[in-house]
Amino acid sequence: MISIHGYAIVCRHDRIADANGAFPPALMNEADWAYFQAELDRADLCVLGSASHRATPNRANRRRLVMSRGADGLEQRDDAWWWAPQRLPFEEVCARLLPDGGRIGVPGGQVAFDYFLSESPQGLRFGAFHLSRATRTAIPGGRGLLTGVEQGHDADSILRAHGLVPGPVRMIDPDAGVDLTVYTAP
Ligand SMILES: NC(=O)c1ccc[n+]([C@@H]2O[C@H](COP(=O)([O-])OP(=O)(O)OC[C@H]3O[C@@H](n4cnc5c(N)ncnc54)[C@H](OP(=O)(O)O)[C@@H]3O)[C@@H](O)[C@H]2O)c1
Repeated sequence: MISIHGYAIVCRHDRIADANGAFPPALMNEADWAYFQAELDRADLCVLGSASHRATPNRANRRRLVMSRGADGLEQRDDAWWWAPQRLPFEEVCARLLPDGGRIGVPGGQVAFDYFLSESPQGLRFGAFHLSRATRTAIPGGRGLLTGVEQGHDADSILRAHGLVPGPVRMIDPDAGVDLTVYTAP
């Protein structure tokens, strides 16, 4: 069995990064970070887009799979496994890296979120998406959580449209106005 969990913190308009693709300090929150790190510690494999991989040093030495059109199918480099979805189906990645199944954490960015929401094979899509929101922060023109956000749709509608059902909204940092909703596939 493979289970796939996505993680993001967005601003009030569902943006994960600023207009230059950089992570804005306004989205950094201790409560979210602690939750996110504890969750990633449970993952057998973490999947990141190549920009997110470059932006976040792998200090915890987690097992990473980096999505890049430049990868030669699936290849092991010094820093991580690299994978081009156009050249190798994700089933084969799982068969090689997680032959006994396991839990996959997807910390983004947009390319990985889009892929595991709708482009990956049936059965290898998000079983859960953990969405934190900094409700007092706006990032005008920023990078959307998903491509659809940049086309004018809100993240909640897109996640629901793909069969993910929101749980209760939990305020994880009342002082900063940061909440967390876990969407799950029934
Ligand atoms: N707020 C949050 O929760 C959160 C989450 C994640 C990231 N971030 C931040 O967002 C920024 C980066 O996110 P991002 O969304 O701009 O980038 P990203 O999704 O992490 O990576 C984009 C890269 O993925 C590769 N790519 C594009 N299409 C692809 C495809 N079809 N198949 C395989 N690879 C493909 C491209 O690199 P190649 O040229 O190598 O193909 C592209 O430059 C960083 O600042 C990061 O810190 C924030």
